[in-house]
Amino acid sequence: MSLSQQHLSQRLNGRPFLYFDTIGSTNDAARDWLNQDAPTGACVVADEQTSGRGRKARQWQTPPGTALAVSVILRPPPTALHQVVMLGALAVAETIDGLDSWHKVTVKWPNDVLLDNKKVSGILAESAWKGSQLQGVVLGIGLNVRVDFTGSPLESTAISIESVLGRRVDRTILLAVLLRRIDHWTRHLGTQTLFLAWKARLSTLGTTVTVNGTDGNGPLTGLAETVESDGALCVRTPDNTLHRVVAGDVAL
Ligand code: BTN
Repeated sequence: MSLSQQHLSQRLNGRPFLYFDTIGSTNDAARDWLNQDAPTGACVVADEQTSGRGRKARQWQTPPGTALAVSVILRPPPTALHQVVMLGALAVAETIDGLDSWHKVTVKWPNDVLLDNKKVSGILAESAWKGSQLQGVVLGIGLNVRVDFTGSPLESTAISIESVLGRRVDRTILLAVLLRRIDHWTRHLGTQTLFLAWKARLSTLGTTVTVNGTDGNGPLTGLAETVESDGALCVRTPDNTLHRVVAGDVAL
């Protein structure tokens, strides 16, 4: 079943959504909709993104017919804002789990979902503020379903679901399942349960990492010991100092 307005209407159980064959970025369209009072849980879906973006202003490729690009509008309490990316990573991981129980699905801190140790999905949460008031969050998820990375610079680090499973996966059904997992974890926003489930998925803990941190933490290499409930990664460097890294990239 191809991605289309009609197929999505049949599968999304009345959830408000916008579908585009081609769009710049679903996150931009979702943000516009959020600013016009979109209902919570509404989503924007596209078959192709021409200027999809990832974290740190990186590009995110969504060639037509190959992936899921979806942005979901959420209104978390401000105190649970940091958990939105955890929620996204968990929902994606559990969606892939549901397809096949043989392959390992983990999360590379903070929010890359890995399938057999390669990145299968990226998550970009962007919040919208009016002054100091949180209006909502756009949870953007890109999921490689049958993107062909052969010969691309990403070949050694990225993967698609179908190449691992060796079978066709219906993107409409995949999206319906993913949205249900997002609904589930949205009900747990702000809880220790969500944090612990995310922590249990992390493949980063116990490994040596190099972190290009922010908040004054330059690149540092050390043992990823644990994470704190706000999502910060605690990295012990060889001089035995424990660094708390709030956001960054991890090279495994
Ligand atoms: C990353 O790993 O850097 C995050 C990638 C997030 C990509 C998704 S695809 C749907 C949504 N629209 C975008 O432009 N980006 C996110």
